[in-house]
Amino acid sequence: MVSALAAAIVLGLGLFNGVDAQLTTAAEIKQALQANGLDVSKLPSTSQNGIAAASGINAAPQHCNVLCSVLAGFFPDQTITSQESQLFANWTGSFWSQQQEATTPRCIFQPSSSIEVSSGLLLAQLFTCPFAIKSGGHAAFSGSSSVQNGLNIDLSKLNAITLNKDHSVASIGAGNRWVDVYNYLQPYNISVVGGRVSDIGVGGLTTGGGISFFSQIYGWACDNVVNYQVVLASGAVVNVNPSSNPDLYWALRGGGNNFAIVTRFDLSTHSQGSLWSGSLIYTPDKSTQMIDIFYNYGVNAASDPKSAVIMNWAYAEGLFLSVADLEYADSTVNPPIFQNFTNVSTLENTMAVRTLPEVTEMFKQSNPNGLRESYWTATFTLTKDMITFLVNTFEEESSRAVNATGYTPALVLQIISTDVLTQMQKNGGNALGLSPSDGTLLLLNLSFMWGDIADDNLILDILGSITSKAIAYGKANGLYKEYLYMNYASQYQAVLPSYGSANFARLQSVSKKYDPLQVFQRLEPGYFKLTEQPPNATYPSSS
Ligand SMILES: Cc1cc2nc3c(=O)[nH]c(=O)nc-3n(C[C@H](O)[C@H](O)[C@H](O)COP(=O)(O)OP(=O)(O)OC[C@H]3O[C@@H](n4cnc5c(N)ncnc54)[C@H](O)[C@@H]3O)c2cc1C
Ligand SMILES: *[C@@H]1O[C@H](CO)[C@@H](O)[C@H](O)[C@H]1NC(C)=O
Ligand SMILES: *[C@@H]1O[C@H](CO)[C@@H](O)[C@H](O)[C@H]1NC(C)=O
Ligand SMILES: *[C@@H]1O[C@H](CO)[C@@H](O)[C@H](O)[C@H]1NC(C)=O
Ligand SMILES: *[C@@H]1O[C@H](CO)[C@@H](O)[C@H](O)[C@H]1NC(C)=O
Ligand SMILES: *[C@@H]1O[C@H](CO)[C@@H](O)[C@H](O)[C@H]1NC(C)=O
Ligand SMILES: *[C@@H]1O[C@H](CO)[C@@H](O)[C@H](O)[C@H]1NC(C)=O
Ligand SMILES: *[C@@H]1O[C@H](CO)[C@@H](O)[C@H](O)[C@H]1NC(C)=O
Repeated sequence: MVSALAAAIVLGLGLFNGVDAQLTTAAEIKQALQANGLDVSKLPSTSQNGIAAASGINAAPQHCNVLCSVLAGFFPDQTITSQESQLFANWTGSFWSQQQEATTPRCIFQPSSSIEVSSGLLLAQLFTCPFAIKSGGHAAFSGSSSVQNGLNIDLSKLNAITLNKDHSVASIGAGNRWVDVYNYLQPYNISVVGGRVSDIGVGGLTTGGGISFFSQIYGWACDNVVNYQVVLASGAVVNVNPSSNPDLYWALRGGGNNFAIVTRFDLSTHSQGSLWSGSLIYTPDKSTQMIDIFYNYGVNAASDPKSAVIMNWAYAEGLFLSVADLEYADSTVNPPIFQNFTNVSTLENTMAVRTLPEVTEMFKQSNPNGLRESYWTATFTLTKDMITFLVNTFEEESSRAVNATGYTPALVLQIISTDVLTQMQKNGGNALGLSPSDGTLLLLNLSFMWGDIADDNLILDILGSITSKAIAYGKANGLYKEYLYMNYASQYQAVLPSYGSANFARLQSVSKKYDPLQVFQRLEPGYFKLTEQPPNATYPSSS
């Protein structure tokens, strides 16, 4: 008993230094909770106490009632239990998509420190209650960062931002939104590699990868994490970096929510001033020309790492418009790399020199909260024919729902240049399975918004159909790259197996090492798990 308690205290202090100390019994979990400072004598003793996952029992939402009252007892100001309250409604309204907003947890816990995250995670295990972790709440499908009748752990109170002495590393609480990070760093004339829309969360964007305006120079967001502070399934708070837990460091760079709850990201900073950035909107007659221009940009992108382009074909007010979002990493106006775009006459041109926070606020305007949303993704070798196929298929298929309320379908294409792929090899490389030898890649983001649940099946059928036709075309022409970007994937896509069989197996073994009882697989059911199956194996159909 004494030695178990000593072990628990060691865990609670974060001195955890091995992966074999797994909690299996209710008594051990209670000792870890006590080490976290909770008075465990206040816990109700019920026969279901204990980590049911240990005996193969999966989470049961009915256990969450007890858990929620226990959390409310220990953390009255940080637990929202009344589903009828305005506070609860406001909280569910903080998700980006309607599908997540409509998912109702049994209670919400808002820890303000990593030890409190640890206590929440241990209590969820003690009562075998399913949970979900929410950072910025921008994942689109139901259950991504929400959980019906379960425990929703909301990281928004983990919102500290600090800089080390020489300003080379910014330590960012996992519940921050990117705009707050950029606003904090701007007076120092520095920034970090992060999201491009103001209120995206640091947590989800970085655990899935993270495409930034600066990714040709520095790689994706995950490639610039120098240290993660995480809470493991055991409740231990540990640091994860190239020298401490290096296998987990690799897995966290793209592996999603499968290994730990990240409570702080320590990000490498870079000097950053204002950007020349904005959107060029073109009429439908320019569509074919824009395919050429975007293709040429893709071929040339790596020659100017300061450049970034998000190329959209979108249906709005009865027309298929093309929209080029251009971003240049400094205040140079109209650099040569963008002149093919700027030379074409536009319907609208919003290019200007803006600060990074201003750019992210500008892009927020086209991404309002509260609509139904679905993203789908795939990756291809860049060719003009592939782009043409995608544009034609998008226009043809998306027309099937033109009468849907609030319908805004978009085909969004981005380049993953060899510069990006080279940066991805930093610090031993990330888990995504991409390499410079893949050549220049074309990343598909199908992003559809609509207003009415009655149109779900039709729209999901359209999205599934565009994606499968594109993949079939890619395969037939030797252009398909088996990589699905987690942050753009739908619930019908199996992301982690797409990282390649060796990486997938390695991710599974890292998971078994750091989470032997598979708490993050069984008790946190949402989003992309370490299985061959996608989150929802039932493919949508309008029939
Ligand atoms: C308007 C808009 C703009 C976008 N722009 C970009 C962009 O510029 N670049 C880009 O790459 N992507 C972009 N995305 C995609 C975005 O990266 C994903 O939607 C991402 O999941 C959002 O992160 P979040 O924290 O807001 O999401 P959440 O829904 O809170 O989280 C998403 C997933 O990550 C998990 N998670 C979150 N935090 C943690 C943590 N601390 N520890 C463990 N797991 C965690 C959650 O459990 C959940 O499964 C954009 C999305 C939207 C809607
Ligand atoms: C809910 O949100 C509304 C609108 O922002 C605000 O006026 C109200 O005070 C909030 N209520 C609670 C209980 O947080
Ligand atoms: C940041 O850059 C601006 C403009 O170049 C300059 O005036 C300011 O002194 C710089 N601030 C710091 C902290 O270096
Ligand atoms: C601009 O377009 C021309 C063809 O019209 C192409 O040769 C050139 O490479 C393009 N430049 C860039 C930077 O994309
Ligand atoms: C832009 O247009 C001008 C005038 O039509 C032309 O002289 C110039 O070469 C074009 N530049 C590019 C990059 O296409
Ligand atoms: C949309 O509505 C119009 C007018 O009712 C109708 O003519 C058209 O066929 C509809 N289109 C589709 C794709 O349902
Ligand atoms: C996909 O592109 C659209 C349009 O640019 C953008 O609004 C959306 O945020 C993108 N999706 C993701 C997941 O980044
Ligand atoms: C899975 O998808 C199908 C088809 O779109 C849908 O009917 C079903 O509700 C989904 N299930 C879950 C759990 O999301």
